[in-house]
Amino acid sequence: MARLQIEAVSKRFGATDAVRDVDLDIADGEFMVLLGPSGCGKSTLLRMIAGLELPTSGRILLDGRDITELAPQQRDLAMVFQSYALYPHLTVERNIGFPLKSRRLPRARIAERVAQVAATLELTPLLGRRPAALSGGQRQRVALARAMVRDPGAFLMDEPLSNLDAKLRSATRAELIGLHRRLGTTFLYVTHDQVEAMTMATRIALLNDGHVEQVGTPTELYDRPRSTFVAGFLGAPPMNLLPATVSERAGRLRVGAEGLDAALGIADTCGDTAVTVGIRPERLRIDPTAGDLRGRVRMVENLGSEELVHLDLGMRQICARVPRPAGVVAGTEIGLSVDPADIHLFHPESGLRMKWHGAQPVRADAEPDHAEADVSVAPSLS
Ligand SMILES: Nc1ncnc2c1ncn2[C@@H]1O[C@H](COP(=O)(O)OP(=O)(O)O)[C@@H](O)[C@H]1O
Ligand SMILES: [Mg+2]
Repeated sequence: MARLQIEAVSKRFGATDAVRDVDLDIADGEFMVLLGPSGCGKSTLLRMIAGLELPTSGRILLDGRDITELAPQQRDLAMVFQSYALYPHLTVERNIGFPLKSRRLPRARIAERVAQVAATLELTPLLGRRPAALSGGQRQRVALARAMVRDPGAFLMDEPLSNLDAKLRSATRAELIGLHRRLGTTFLYVTHDQVEAMTMATRIALLNDGHVEQVGTPTELYDRPRSTFVAGFLGAPPMNLLPATVSERAGRLRVGAEGLDAALGIADTCGDTAVTVGIRPERLRIDPTAGDLRGRVRMVENLGSEELVHLDLGMRQICARVPRPAGVVAGTEIGLSVDPADIHLFHPESGLRMKWHGAQPVRADAEPDHAEADVSVAPSLS
């Protein structure tokens, strides 16, 4: 059992606000991923939960109990680091058993528990080896086994896969998902890798400069980013974001910019309103006849399965991810179409997602997170 509640936690290092007023409620059994660019405060937040760092302010609760100032070994949590931190002179068996030995468990009990965990992680044949004789992936599994051996209430992991090569990383991702399912234990997992976050998380907390930008399922963050930061962080290539204007034509709303003139699927009236428009590359279709967007092809990238078509839209550039072969040639002008439901609108200054209340755009920050209110006018834009 481990529910983790982070309440208004901040951490300041001299003049640096590493973590700013973070609130997070992590349910028992969740796989919560702390995602964000380098330096946004992920490790600091995790280290405070582990007890390796004291918050400047705020509280941390484990199953309702305040653990903010408790020593690391008094918390029912196990931490796995990017560097595996194995003891080089000890065998795999003794590395895994170390946390139990330091708790003075009987030797037979330790051996039994180590054998159990080793079997779960397919480490049994390696128990007699030393870390130097293991591959990166095997070392990572030993580090994981050492964390599991105590049967902790929750696992805290800080970029545990970043030292592995791409193929092993993908295999280990799948292993971690399986492990989480089998154990049903709470996982709190730090990464800057959006693929890890999207594939493993039950929920993602996306951090930006020390604060939580959005919390939600991978689908929620991808499909309904609450700001341009979230929109631009998730997705490869990321969402196209352009300054644009929403205006009315014969009682219908459209969004326009140089090379862009697309219906929003909303019957309404309004004066011209500045916005940032967002469209995911995979939501654009090449459309020789019509074209909500028209631009000149700058370059086509062949990804094997698909192609990335980079276009100049006036002074701006956008990218479309289309099935191969797209049959377009650099230097030619092409049209692209997009469904109204795939057009996102953000406030041009705050960057926050906009809702469309009647004729007036309303800043998304006036609404509670994930509010589904007022969708009658514009379900796709709410
Ligand atoms: N012990 C420390 N002393 C001073 N500054 C620190 C310390 N640890 C982290 N920081 C700063 O806090 C910010 C967040 O760091 P960190 O939590 O390591 O980010 P992340 O893990 O997301 O890359 C960074 O600006 C970093 O330089
Ligand atoms: Mg870090």
